[in-house]
Amino acid sequence: MRALTVEPGRAGSLRLDQRPEPTPADGELLVEGVALGVCGTDREIVAGEYGWAAPGAERLVIGHESLGRVLEAPEGSRFASGDLVVGVVRRPDPVPCGACAAGEFDMCRNGRYRERGIKEIDGYAAERWTVPETYAVPVDPALGLCAVLTEPASVVAKAWEQVEAVGRRAWFEPRSVLVTGAGPIGLLAALMGVQRGLSVHVLDRVADGPKPDLVRDLGATYHHAPVAEVTAALQPDVVIEGTGVGSLVFDALAGTGPYGIVCLTGVSSGGRTLSLDAGALNRALVLENDAVVGSVNANQRHFQLAEQALHQADTAWLSRLITRRVPLNRYAEALEAGPRDVKVVLDLENAGA
Ligand code: BGC
Repeated sequence: MRALTVEPGRAGSLRLDQRPEPTPADGELLVEGVALGVCGTDREIVAGEYGWAAPGAERLVIGHESLGRVLEAPEGSRFASGDLVVGVVRRPDPVPCGACAAGEFDMCRNGRYRERGIKEIDGYAAERWTVPETYAVPVDPALGLCAVLTEPASVVAKAWEQVEAVGRRAWFEPRSVLVTGAGPIGLLAALMGVQRGLSVHVLDRVADGPKPDLVRDLGATYHHAPVAEVTAALQPDVVIEGTGVGSLVFDALAGTGPYGIVCLTGVSSGGRTLSLDAGALNRALVLENDAVVGSVNANQRHFQLAEQALHQADTAWLSRLITRRVPLNRYAEALEAGPRDVKVVLDLENAGA
């Protein structure tokens, strides 16, 4: 079978390899790949800037935004052949640290966690893959291809959970959320904001393409003005930051309303400096009891929350997030980010010859 592999750390090493058919171990499902979402992390791995092969291996099968169909399930399994399934990305560290021992491997403390398609375990960019049943999440067949959005939605479900946990430290009745960045993470964050009954605002730098309409069709407001201008008028209770752009992050931190909560989800590349009035920022955070929290990855609970959020969403709207579908054999096209892309998906079912 074919799998998309890289040599981590080496740009230009992406290629389609022939790999032996996977054999499920005890308690594992054998899954036929249906689709794979491509994200910024995959592009970083392909550029040689991120990613780790398994110890002793040279190459890594990429891909962490999975969607597959069960081919074989163990006896007595909650899965049956034909079920649509998504695989969890992270695995606990081997020590394990307290968080990993408690099943909260998304909060791993010692950094020795592994991630499929990213860190030391082969990913889901393969025609067939296996997954332990405990790390498999059943998805609604009515979602069809949109279920490939479950993994990014799980990251967003965790971010919302973080915001709500931080909010509970005192009286908390948020009314507005500003989401920065209208990529898949931002749009899914906006969807979950609308599902919570909030007044939702999304900011991005583009003025055309599919993003403004996707935001408006959710019943949310689209902005492409500078963030400081938007926050000055809006004073948002919550900000979900999805760009990782340093200047935007600091403007968002300074611009919340009182008791504002900013959740940072964008992974920046680093290496850029900016000058800012740290005293004024500190003063704004202290005098307003503001909070900022970083959030990455997701555990099984967040995948379930994600599945529920997608299940409750309008499938026609979700399907518009998938702006390109590329057969596996034309993988290079999928890894190039186009100006009108929201989510690009590799087609593993109609993979091409
Ligand atoms: C993935 C997360 C992962 C993070 C860091 C993201 O793209 O969605 O699951 O934890 O990258 O590796």
